[in-house]
Amino acid sequence: MNKKIAVLAGDGIGPEVVEQALKAVKAVEKKFGHHFEYTPAPVGAGAIEQTGNPYPDETHEICMQSDAVLFGAIGDPKYDNDPVAKVRPEQGLLAMRKKLGLYANIRPITAFKSLVHRSPLKTELVEGVDFIVLRELTGGIYFGEPRGRSEDGLTAFDTCTYQRFEVERIVRLAFEYARKRRGKVTAVDKANILATSRLWRETVGQLHAGYPDVELEFMFVDNAAMQIVTFPKKFDVVVTENMFGDILTDEASVITGSLGLLPSASVGIHTSVFEPIHGSYPQAAGKNIANPLGTILSAALMFEHALGMPEAGKLIREACEYSVAQGFVTTDIAAGKACSTSEVGDRIAEAIKN
Ligand code: IPM
Ligand code: MN
Repeated sequence: MNKKIAVLAGDGIGPEVVEQALKAVKAVEKKFGHHFEYTPAPVGAGAIEQTGNPYPDETHEICMQSDAVLFGAIGDPKYDNDPVAKVRPEQGLLAMRKKLGLYANIRPITAFKSLVHRSPLKTELVEGVDFIVLRELTGGIYFGEPRGRSEDGLTAFDTCTYQRFEVERIVRLAFEYARKRRGKVTAVDKANILATSRLWRETVGQLHAGYPDVELEFMFVDNAAMQIVTFPKKFDVVVTENMFGDILTDEASVITGSLGLLPSASVGIHTSVFEPIHGSYPQAAGKNIANPLGTILSAALMFEHALGMPEAGKLIREACEYSVAQGFVTTDIAAGKACSTSEVGDRIAEAIKN
């Protein structure tokens, strides 16, 4: 099969971890006799330096014309420490999500069997954890207007907005996923406080009528934050708005042992994007120590969700499991001697070949 893959490596550790994922993708390409065309494009702080725009039009065109986008990370401390910067790398990520219409970010939470003991949580809590978070990705407080500062600079404001159709489309997806999984949806909100959450709750309740076979539970986000690390096995499909989903998935990553392990798929109207849930980790950039597994597993999701090659996705995942079980892991999860980023990538590509 011929496929076009846009490669947006981005900032910080982005290029290193994407390089490892590409090793896996190329191993798959060779093994199955496919032909992939890879088109790199700038995004984030790097793109600001080159063009002044964190998501240049040319990059968007390349994404639109590809079958899938493999994404690394964006962000740079230069901007984090500059509260008045006019353009910020993160705006590139948000622009990409919005322009590609990526309203659903799928974040699977599962632990590698061989790493269960590396989780800070008790082994009996972690063993067998298997849920997905569907995070709404193009609405809410990340995008709402107005936002900004009062003239005297003493007041700042953001706006959380949701329209009914934005809630409907992701909630439907949640019910559909639940049907293919263990048949349970947990809708997380703050309906005791927020008007947007009450719209979510109302919409979820009404759509549930079309999915009577799916069990539905509502949960306030503060309670969900507690239950995710206390009873992680009770979750199957969690659906929630943009910022709650951002926060809860970083929290959920501790179940698996490391933020560096979690992949994600962003799907919606145009080309889907596959990216690890972690950020650009600038302290580690260029040191060859970052965990590439989140990105490699994102490549596995890419084969399943966008390229129509589920067997390739499965193979990558098995290769990851195998190499992790052999102890080829980076310092964030290593019990003994740690491997470098590129070594982990090499081991996994090798496992795919054999
Ligand atoms: C994520 C990241 C981004 C987000 C940042 C980098 C803007 O944390 O993808 O989870 O908040 O969505
Ligand atoms: Mn995040």
